[in-house]
Amino acid sequence: MKGLWTVVFAGVAVASGAMAQPGDVNRGQGDFRACAACHSLEPGHDMTGPSLADLWGRKAGGLSSFDRYSDALKSSGIVWNDKTLDQWLTDPPRMVPDNAMPFEGIKDSGVRADLLAFLKEATKPGAAPKQSAQMPMKGMGGMMGGGHDPNLKKIEPARQVKVITYCRDTYRVTTADGKVRAFWERNLRFMTDSSKDGPEMDVPAIMPAGMLGDRAAVIFADPDEIGRFIQRKC
Ligand code: HEC
Repeated sequence: MKGLWTVVFAGVAVASGAMAQPGDVNRGQGDFRACAACHSLEPGHDMTGPSLADLWGRKAGGLSSFDRYSDALKSSGIVWNDKTLDQWLTDPPRMVPDNAMPFEGIKDSGVRADLLAFLKEATKPGAAPKQSAQMPMKGMGGMMGGGHDPNLKKIEPARQVKVITYCRDTYRVTTADGKVRAFWERNLRFMTDSSKDGPEMDVPAIMPAGMLGDRAAVIFADPDEIGRFIQRKC
């Protein structure tokens, strides 16, 4: 009788253990859309979150190119592997209290297994170009789909900013195609991108932001440009 129970329990443990189910790489690639707004799979391409290239075996908080790790993650002593990544994706704040990843976790162990199966392939050294070429680019578009943000040095004239004026509560933005658009001051954001994909100095780019079409972001090459560029003029 005792022997039988052991066998039954062992069977249950295997069937319900997440790591025992091999994940589906293709499904996992779809699930990665939940991460792609913040994480690239390309080495050195950090966004809101660090690049996930070469993740397995890496020390948590250990990427020297990424400046925004929380102290909590850096001092956690975690090394990323199948087991620690499964725990992290289940409930990030439970594994590392006070971490800075704005993500509530994935409760479904099947989804985590799929995602980890995909990530394990896609984060291998040399895997990034092939995988990002396969990324679905439809739907939310390249920005959300894990593809590359557009290179702002090569942006079309309709997005190249020539002049920004400020009058009472309104910014007026003139672009290189001669169009002028007016924005309520709370609807226009000013940002910088100093990376290789950022704009040329003194040729900031205007990009749509938000769903309604009333908001936009002007992206400069350097914060020093911002005050210089905006003219008070009615
Ligand atoms: C809204 C942005 C955001 C989303 C969505 C997001 N992350 Fe993160 N992620 C971050 C940030 C920021 C950090 C750094 C956290 C810290 O330092 O505490 C991080 C850290 C990580 C790390 C640790 C990396 C390292 O170098 O130690 C892993 C692994 C990770 N995220 C995986 C994922 C996966 C997989 C998903 C999708 C299921 C995801 N993240 C979704 C922003 C995000």
